[in-house]
Amino acid sequence: MLNNDQLDKWDRENFFHPSTHLAQHARGESPSRVIRTASGVHIEDRDGNHFLDAFAGLYCVNAGYGRPEIADAIAAQAKELAYYHSYVGHGTEASITLAKMIIDRAPANMSKVYFGLSGSDANETNIKLVWYYNNILGRPEKKKIISRWRGYHGSGLMTGSLTGLELFHKKFDLPLSQVVHTEAPYYFRRKDLSQTEAEFSAHCAAELEALIAREGADTIAAFIGEPVLGTGGIVPPPAGYWAAIQEVLRKHDILLIADEVVTGFGRLGSMFGSDHYGIEADIITIAKGLTSAYAPLSGSIISDRVWKVLEQGTDENGPIGHGWTYSAHPICAAAGVANLKLIDDLGLVANAGEVGAYFKAAMSDALSGHAHVGDVRGEGLLCAVEFVEDCSSRRFFDPAKKIGPQVSAALMSQDKVIARAMPQGDILGFAPPFCLTKAEADTVVAATERAVKTILG
Ligand SMILES: Cc1ncc(COP(=O)(O)O)c(C=O)c1O
Repeated sequence: MLNNDQLDKWDRENFFHPSTHLAQHARGESPSRVIRTASGVHIEDRDGNHFLDAFAGLYCVNAGYGRPEIADAIAAQAKELAYYHSYVGHGTEASITLAKMIIDRAPANMSKVYFGLSGSDANETNIKLVWYYNNILGRPEKKKIISRWRGYHGSGLMTGSLTGLELFHKKFDLPLSQVVHTEAPYYFRRKDLSQTEAEFSAHCAAELEALIAREGADTIAAFIGEPVLGTGGIVPPPAGYWAAIQEVLRKHDILLIADEVVTGFGRLGSMFGSDHYGIEADIITIAKGLTSAYAPLSGSIISDRVWKVLEQGTDENGPIGHGWTYSAHPICAAAGVANLKLIDDLGLVANAGEVGAYFKAAMSDALSGHAHVGDVRGEGLLCAVEFVEDCSSRRFFDPAKKIGPQVSAALMSQDKVIARAMPQGDILGFAPPFCLTKAEADTVVAATERAVKTILG
């Protein structure tokens, strides 16, 4: 099928691509790229071009491409039992085993896992559960959710509202009224350049406190945040940020949802970002790394504290009115079991930490002195390079110049390395598979240096 020379035409005529300029694509003005196969950190398109995928798809193929252990587990499950539902207490060996494996790895206060299919639907579940929780506790007014500008939590109605990126709101009538946004913990873009990281963290906590005071603490149910801002720019938190934020949340009895769709299962070199930063969440969102994207699967990990109230709710009201046909789909669960086992067997979490530190240091050595590189940052196998017009005044480029996309395009055309031009700002993002070697990290850094030189001199 991939040799079909009609594929380009069929693509433009029939396929509605997500996050794509629809008109340009339909007119043939933007590239249509057909990927055929992949192995390790490399993908191959149908013309035989090989690319080093330094963004692991959409930071999700954590175990690397072409793992027979996961593919075989999927095939075996499909043959044995392709589907059975998980309503009214039903389960399969794969789904029950995976729930245990997740709770064994999760922070100690976690109790149960609800399975979904995407990060977006998991966050929708989380908000419903938070609302249910406060209704059961007799606090029907305590419903608003605080998210951060530049946070990314999905693109559904509620989750698109939580996402703090303008593109996801514009012309969609979002955000919904139950969502309010607070300052992004983005030290490089702080307004007051004289602030230290610790001062900026205190400022973010004070902004949160002020927002809660304006809205009324008795109207705020939860705060949602990624341990490291992802799509909003790949930004690790400034020193002391999570401690300061949690102090405010505890004071006002506001639940904390840690969205670990990107950071869960090892990307920071720790099993969870919550462990990494001392975050004590009430609910943790997981997706991508749970199956390394070999099958669509997400989860909401629920703490003891929330779970007890949910139990009380069903004693008072009957079975919980929430579920998807494909919750805990056995094929996806089998992929998850095989993936988590492989990550353990190959020591990939430790590798993400070790090679991640090496990668960031090498990127920083190569680019930090460049006149248009304002910041090189990262944690584990997440790294970003942010471009500015002028370093000393931190003046940003005119977005219309599309510097980030140009550097990313040069990286791909010159050296066949894939990095992501992040959607808001001139920011080049890297999130390679955890099996990246130091030699491959060197290749990515050298290629990035060349691409930056091509576009910015
Ligand atoms: C932190 C975070 N949460 C949620 C989502 C949404 O996940 P999905 O695209 O699977 O719906 C993403 C996707 O990138 C994400 O990065």
